[in-house]
Amino acid sequence: MKSPFKSIRTELTVLIIVAGIVVGAVVGYLIYRHTVEQAIEATKSRIETTMAFVKASREYVRKTLRPKVYELLAAGCTNEDFILEAQSSSFFTASIFKMVNRDIPDMELRQVAIKPLNPRNKPNDTEMWIIAYLQSKNLKEYEGITLHKGRDYYVKAFAVIPKQSCLRCHGTLEAMPRAVKERYKPKSDPNWPVGKVNGAIVIYIPFDEVLARARMDGLVNGGITGGVFILLSALLLAILNIRVFKPVDTLKEKVEKISKGELEDKVPYQSENEIGMLARAIERLRVSMKKLMDMMS
Ligand code: HEC
Repeated sequence: MKSPFKSIRTELTVLIIVAGIVVGAVVGYLIYRHTVEQAIEATKSRIETTMAFVKASREYVRKTLRPKVYELLAAGCTNEDFILEAQSSSFFTASIFKMVNRDIPDMELRQVAIKPLNPRNKPNDTEMWIIAYLQSKNLKEYEGITLHKGRDYYVKAFAVIPKQSCLRCHGTLEAMPRAVKERYKPKSDPNWPVGKVNGAIVIYIPFDEVLARARMDGLVNGGITGGVFILLSALLLAILNIRVFKPVDTLKEKVEKISKGELEDKVPYQSENEIGMLARAIERLRVSMKKLMDMMS
């Protein structure tokens, strides 16, 4: 194969720089990916813990609090038909979400739905997109890095799929407990579709700092690796220059002189290595040629 370079020195220099850049870029990218993946793992376990608490509190309301309060209502403790604060797991969750959002500012929990009771739970653009995505793919969960309010967030969403029992409060105005109607004053029937994705529980964890740190880590480490690679290779090139290229240059000049018939200068050789042996061979050539010339003259 013919090299496009006239000099091995240039060829090696170009090769080293290109290899250094490639090595640096690959290492940088791998470190970036690794940092992001690690952060995602940590985020996932945070989300899991959070969801366990969310589910547990919903379950507590449904299985413990609500039946107990129904008992009390049946016993005629008040003339209310329903105690929202104690019997609605959605209301309970909403209250807990509010406190968590207040206490853990770098995490946002929301429960949203199309035609919500609480107008604050109307899906924003990101959530609308997630709901549509879950609907179209018939999925129960979504997770990914998503732009939200101009920042990168790691978003995990769990589909809200209404059951028949949810229609007590999310069906018609007529069926709704008085407490719900009075508090939210809905203007029309929410009429949530049973069995179809109609909303989501969404957890936002800011991720832009993680991504920025990962990018920085990748850049710095990739730069250092590429730089060290280039530096070590440059050192090798410098050694090659002294030990190989320069002696070869000198030999080349000697051979050129010999080819022009200048046979007086001895070709010096010091080492026993390949170049020393080459110098020795050239010296023998010079001596033979000189003898030949002497014989001819
Ligand atoms: C007893 C009444 C009641 C029942 C039954 C009920 N919810 Fe709710 N739900 C509420 C109330 C009240 C809110 C508003 C909470 C708030 O202020 O954020 C709500 C809010 C929600 C929201 C947020 C969107 C919105 O409408 O504001 C979701 C999602 C939700 N509920 C899901 C469900 C699901 C799923 C079921 C059935 C498994 C269900 N709910 C059953 C009372 C109920």
